[in-house]
Amino acid sequence: MASTDSSTAFVEFDRVQKSYDGETLVVKDLNLSIGKGEFLTMLGPSGSGKTTCLMMLAGFETATHGEIRLDGKEINNIPPHKRGIGMVFQNYALFPHMTVAENLSFPLEVRKLGKSEREQKIKRALDMVQMGSFGGRRPTQLSGGQQQRIALARALVFEPELVLMDEPLGALDKQLRETLQFEITRVAHDLGITVVYVTHDQTEALTMSDRVAVFDDGRIQQLAAPDTLYEQPQNSFVAQFIGENNTLRGKVAKLSGDHCVVRLDETGEEIDALPVNVTREGDETLVSIRPERVEFNPELGPDAHTLTAEVLEFIYMGDVFRTRLKVAGRDDFIVKTRNRADQTRFAPGQKIQIGWLPQDCRALDP
Ligand SMILES: Nc1ncnc2c1ncn2[C@@H]1O[C@H](COP(=O)(O)OP(=O)(O)O)[C@@H](O)[C@H]1O
Ligand SMILES: [Mg+2]
Repeated sequence: MASTDSSTAFVEFDRVQKSYDGETLVVKDLNLSIGKGEFLTMLGPSGSGKTTCLMMLAGFETATHGEIRLDGKEINNIPPHKRGIGMVFQNYALFPHMTVAENLSFPLEVRKLGKSEREQKIKRALDMVQMGSFGGRRPTQLSGGQQQRIALARALVFEPELVLMDEPLGALDKQLRETLQFEITRVAHDLGITVVYVTHDQTEALTMSDRVAVFDDGRIQQLAAPDTLYEQPQNSFVAQFIGENNTLRGKVAKLSGDHCVVRLDETGEEIDALPVNVTREGDETLVSIRPERVEFNPELGPDAHTLTAEVLEFIYMGDVFRTRLKVAGRDDFIVKTRNRADQTRFAPGQKIQIGWLPQDCRALDP
């Protein structure tokens, strides 16, 4: 597992800010240490500053403020081609007039490698992406997925220690995307390369990464391993951006240690939650509960609160059931249950009770 200790950081953003127009900051205060061999993903909505961060690391944009370090050395003033970084982008055009092998040879010629060494490295890179027999083809003779494999091979051929990828699979269909997700992580781990990967697709981020930095509005909202991000979101933005969530609005009625009671604005009903972003009684909060953590007619402790719900819709999805409920004035409350022989299938109109363990319901910022 990659280290995140700052003394062994391989890539460091230190108080980095970026403005394109001299007024608005699109990257506000970026502090991020990436360990050697780590697969780190920047995840966030469009316009949140991900590409800008990658471009500053690559050297195509300059930071307005702060320092970027690679292997301990400041690189703010080193031009892109001297940083030794491999890059793959969504539409990374291969040179159309060159064959695949010539495309891969190019970064090696720039680095003044001899012919036999070039041939050996090209073969190895093509084999790595399972395109060994395609060296003589031109890019137009390849499918989209094959072109993207070649773009990956070209980024790896000069054996960089750091590879940056900006939405590299965005243009591909779902099945091909999943195959390449697996291949990229396999190749990265096999070679021990550090990868900074950008995507707006949360599933891609969760399945590929050692850690994920969730961006919004030019700031990292949370930086954590995928399971922590999903199970312990630190604020409402992360809770709603990662995975599916039910949210209810209310005020903290009681607070003691790691437990709070929230009174829902809509109906005055009370629920149990884990205080995450609330500090005192009376605080407004958005509580967040994953659909798979809600229990029907639960048998919880004697002091536990339950909520009355009306079944609006039962959706059969094969492996899971989705039951849509009317809860506390909302008609979009979803409960996900596993398809088991003994699992109740509710009918629209039924009135039931729902509940959860307090630690599965997070009281976050309003
Ligand atoms: N070259 C540029 N000149 C001016 N503004 C830019 C430029 N590139 C990006 N921006 C702005 O910076 C913000 C962040 O953009 P970007 O880093 O591309 O976000 P993301 O990759 O997360 O979608 C956006 O508001 C975008 O419009
Ligand atoms: Mg972008």
